[in-house]
Amino acid sequence: TDLDQFITGLPKAELHLHIEGSLEPELMFALAARNGIEIPYASVEDVRAAYAFSNLQDFLDIYYAGASVLITQADFHDLAMAYFDRAAADGVRHAEIMFDPQTHTDRGIAFATVIEGLLSAMAEAEAKHGLTSALILSFLRHLSEEAAFEVLAMAEPYLDRIAAVGLDSSEVGHPPAKFARVFAAAAAKGLKRVAHAGEEGPPEYVVEALDLLHVDRIDHGNRAMEDAGLVRRLAGAGMTLTVCPLSNLKLCVVGDLADHPLDRMLAEGLRATVNSDDPAYFGGYVADNYRAIAKARGLSRDDLATLARNSFTGSFLPAAAIDRHL
Ligand code: ADE
Ligand code: ZN
Repeated sequence: TDLDQFITGLPKAELHLHIEGSLEPELMFALAARNGIEIPYASVEDVRAAYAFSNLQDFLDIYYAGASVLITQADFHDLAMAYFDRAAADGVRHAEIMFDPQTHTDRGIAFATVIEGLLSAMAEAEAKHGLTSALILSFLRHLSEEAAFEVLAMAEPYLDRIAAVGLDSSEVGHPPAKFARVFAAAAAKGLKRVAHAGEEGPPEYVVEALDLLHVDRIDHGNRAMEDAGLVRRLAGAGMTLTVCPLSNLKLCVVGDLADHPLDRMLAEGLRATVNSDDPAYFGGYVADNYRAIAKARGLSRDDLATLARNSFTGSFLPAAAIDRHL
């Protein structure tokens, strides 16, 4: 349709994407066969049937298990290339992708294997599609502060190829405060900072991400809407929120997309963006997310253009590159 073409044609940046969350069931089966790994599913349909989640933890258990088929540098390359091909087809011109080293190093995969595979796909995506990208090294918050420091140490030889650190996994019970020191160490090394906050956790976690982690973006941020003072603060600071509508629906952060707060965020002056989070698990890539939320909330083309513009202004691209995209 017309609106589909408008959405695909809008130049967009994707700012909230877990590369492990782009592992489609077909590739999971192919990599399981290639690596001789057993997976607890009989078929691709069987995998898709398992993707019914009632909260974040339900999803995380399946997402970490799925990542066990990723072994070689070629696996990480193929994973990322499949994402970049889909993103390019959706009109994504720039992607800032999160990866979770601990999901791999904790099962004996070398950090270099993971990052070299991702970096080679990033170079190929730029050559093939003109799609630029950046890496966000994400700490798993259900693990310790000490383990996060170990990740930062492993990343040391690659710091010039990493844009930012991030914080993901089980939110409730693992407040940003737990990672204040490792985020300070990352900042001292010149890295930008993002953190998941206010997805399931309370507005106070968003405040901690601002005050203790000094984040450059908030990932999700839905529950900030419960605190009017916090909304004013985020708007006044020009803070970018990386919102993920289909993820919010699939993880029951919202009961129905018709109740999603995205347009209220824009109306309150928040710099919201639309992103896919874990597209292989949540049923859609970035254009699907724009389409779904446009339909559910009756967004105008102006709103959609604002969201796409926010995705560049909220990116970690240099100012001159942002201007070229606007
Ligand atoms: N890891 C992958 N997707 C995530 C999400 N939506 N929230 C927290 N951790 C994640
Ligand atoms: Zn996420």
